[in-house]
Amino acid sequence: MAGFTAVILAAGEGTRMKSGIPKVLHKVCGYPMLFHVINSAKKAKADKIVVVVGKGAGEVKKAFQDEGLEFVLQAEQKGTGHALLQAKEAVKGSENLIVLYGDMPLIEPDTIERLFEFHIERQPAATVLTCIFDNPYGYGRIIRENEKVIAIREEKDASEEEKLIKEINSGIYCFNTEKVFSALKKVRNDNRQGEYYLTDVVEILNSEGEEVLAFKVENSDEVQGINDRVQLSKAQTIMQRKIIEALMKEGVTFINPESCVVDMRVKIGRDTVIYPNVVIEGETEIGEGCTILGNTVIRDSKIGNNVEISASFIAESEIGDGAKIGPFANLRPGTKICKNVKIGDFVEIKNSSIGEGTKVPHLSYIGDAEIGEKVNIGAGVIFVNYDGYKKHKTVVKDKAFIGCNSNLIAPITVEEGAYVAAGSTLTKDVPSKALAIARAMQENKLGWVEKRKKLFEGGEN
Ligand code: UD1
Ligand code: CA
Repeated sequence: MAGFTAVILAAGEGTRMKSGIPKVLHKVCGYPMLFHVINSAKKAKADKIVVVVGKGAGEVKKAFQDEGLEFVLQAEQKGTGHALLQAKEAVKGSENLIVLYGDMPLIEPDTIERLFEFHIERQPAATVLTCIFDNPYGYGRIIRENEKVIAIREEKDASEEEKLIKEINSGIYCFNTEKVFSALKKVRNDNRQGEYYLTDVVEILNSEGEEVLAFKVENSDEVQGINDRVQLSKAQTIMQRKIIEALMKEGVTFINPESCVVDMRVKIGRDTVIYPNVVIEGETEIGEGCTILGNTVIRDSKIGNNVEISASFIAESEIGDGAKIGPFANLRPGTKICKNVKIGDFVEIKNSSIGEGTKVPHLSYIGDAEIGEKVNIGAGVIFVNYDGYKKHKTVVKDKAFIGCNSNLIAPITVEEGAYVAAGSTLTKDVPSKALAIARAMQENKLGWVEKRKKLFEGGEN
């Protein structure tokens, strides 16, 4: 079968979003809505993808620079028809075009493929993907004569009678390239919005004796256009549900799926249980048999098997099998936790590696450190990594024991099996198997309380 070029219109102002960010960069399940449209076009096997950019063109191009797309600029946003015209040179040589709008992230590749198959089989000048909406408000209405589409009328230009039509224009079309560009030349902007509407080619093609057909789909979710933040949140809900259901079907338990946020590319192994209020974002991978308890946020991290995490924040980190994290741990970027490590409550770690079987059970800060295996870090230990100008490294070797409330002033190394007495502030390396004590010695003043009492409450002197 012949192929097609996809043209995605993404230049619009996005006025209704009331935003400083270009509309198509607003995210749904972790990725810009335009990303989802591009992704579907790719999966539907488009030969080439052309994106028409305008509002925030620089930002949009930057966000998708590695996707193998061709960008064309619509310098002024004069309407969807004008937008497609800008792609004329870029689509030269392809017989069929599929036009998609950048603000419909829920569109499935299969639907695009079916539209294309229908178009190839029937060979009209244009095929419009349509759908019946209970509430068609805001969408272009399909004016039909039996099978044929005679016109598409925008909400703002529709008569009262036309507004009653429930069949809407999804904003996805398949065109014969030559015919659509010849019709586009004739589109005028004498409408309520003063725009050059792409939808007007339907009437023009009809007047030239060309055929325009509708390809009607049943699933109204897929063709929701996003113009404002209410629609954005509805799209999020629909896509979120799909992502979580797909994971559930692969063997992941979600105790309360409605309360969780899981980005599109997240991978989770079977028999992992996700409790309520868990947020899993970005390129995160979680292994099998894990328990992720409530109020945890995991972002761009790799979690092994049988890991337990509760009420913690984890970003750009790696966690080995069997580790236990939290509650209330904050693992910042560059944290690498090996197997069977325990990180307890109120522990903050950044840019550090923690060896197998090591325990950091409570109230510590670890920054820029390399900690070996089976180390014990007592409560309240602080790795003093910053001197006000530079960060310095701390090394704690295997089986070392760091007593509670110690400060390790970096750069410093505690050798294998060494002990650090509680309350020490270390500035020098500690040799293997030595005990370091770096605190004032204790002195007990016998009878001091009685003496003091006499002093203040009378009696002698
Ligand atoms: C459009 C359709 C409407 C359809 C609806 C489906 C037209 C005239 N109307 O209306 O029939 O039911 O989508 O969601 O096409 N864009 C540009 N350049 C422009 C204007 C828009 O690239 O000058 C892009 C936008 O970035 C957006 C898309 O085209 O991705 C649609 O524009 P939008 O303003 O959202 O059109 P709607 O009013 O939703
Ligand atoms: Ca729209």
